[in-house]
Amino acid sequence: TQPKTISDLYAKYMAKEPITMITAYDFITASWAQEANCDVILVGDSLAMCALGYESTTEIGLDEFRYHVQAVCRSRGPAFVMVDMPFGTFESSIEKGVETAISLMKCSPRVGGVKIEVGTPQGDSCEQDYSLKLATELCSRGIPVMGHIGLTPQRMHALSGFKVQGSKSAKDAVGIYRTAQNLQDAGCFSVLLECVPHKVSNFIAEKLHIPTIGIGAGAGVSGQVLVQSDVLGMMPGKVPKLAQKFGDLHAQSVGMIQQYTNDVTAQSFPNNDKNGFKIKEDIWYEFL
Ligand code: KIV
Ligand code: NA
Repeated sequence: TQPKTISDLYAKYMAKEPITMITAYDFITASWAQEANCDVILVGDSLAMCALGYESTTEIGLDEFRYHVQAVCRSRGPAFVMVDMPFGTFESSIEKGVETAISLMKCSPRVGGVKIEVGTPQGDSCEQDYSLKLATELCSRGIPVMGHIGLTPQRMHALSGFKVQGSKSAKDAVGIYRTAQNLQDAGCFSVLLECVPHKVSNFIAEKLHIPTIGIGAGAGVSGQVLVQSDVLGMMPGKVPKLAQKFGDLHAQSVGMIQQYTNDVTAQSFPNNDKNGFKIKEDIWYEFL
């Protein structure tokens, strides 16, 4: 199967068919998403917390991230592959940001674009967000960009925690809408809305003429994205309100590993007939 292109995603958008997107961090989880026919695989920087055990997405470096992008890109199937721009790899200058985006695109010919977290100017500020400028520069260089707005985890401290965005005042809601429009004007092929009231995201989805992908943005956007470890229930405990567990892979995995270690302890695994190998009888006599 040939991977989907941006035109294929636009065709779904025009037909008002929801676009499906999920994260993957390695070859196996990417292959699962491919087999399930997901439209888009995102190598998200949630990798840091959901697969590598870091406390924050701000801790992961570019080399570490590229290693996982390459593994995901070894999967085969219909998905269009998007990758995050990790924290600290693009903020110091536009030049550095462009270099980082190129190095991510060069991980594999399968990488179709980059996603950048973009801030909404606070209060009365009319200052343009740096990431918006970078998005403009990347688009002008032919690198497809998805702008990520609303709750932007890399800016967790600037936002004073993981909170719904655009829910407190009309000004905040308008700010998010304006940022979405600016990203569209910058040439972004899509906008991702995280943790935004659905009235606000519906409004944005109606006004924009590019696909809007939501996580915690309600059902009125053009597509949905979730973190695969949330979907599969890979970790114990609850998932955030914006996500949903569709199973309990954590319990299943621990149970299966326990079954294996119990069988080893009880000496019922391995079974010489089922799992073992035989030596030719005549060789065995010679050996003796
Ligand atoms: O890193 C990530 O997984 C993301 C999605 C939650 C959108 O950015
Ligand atoms: Na991310």
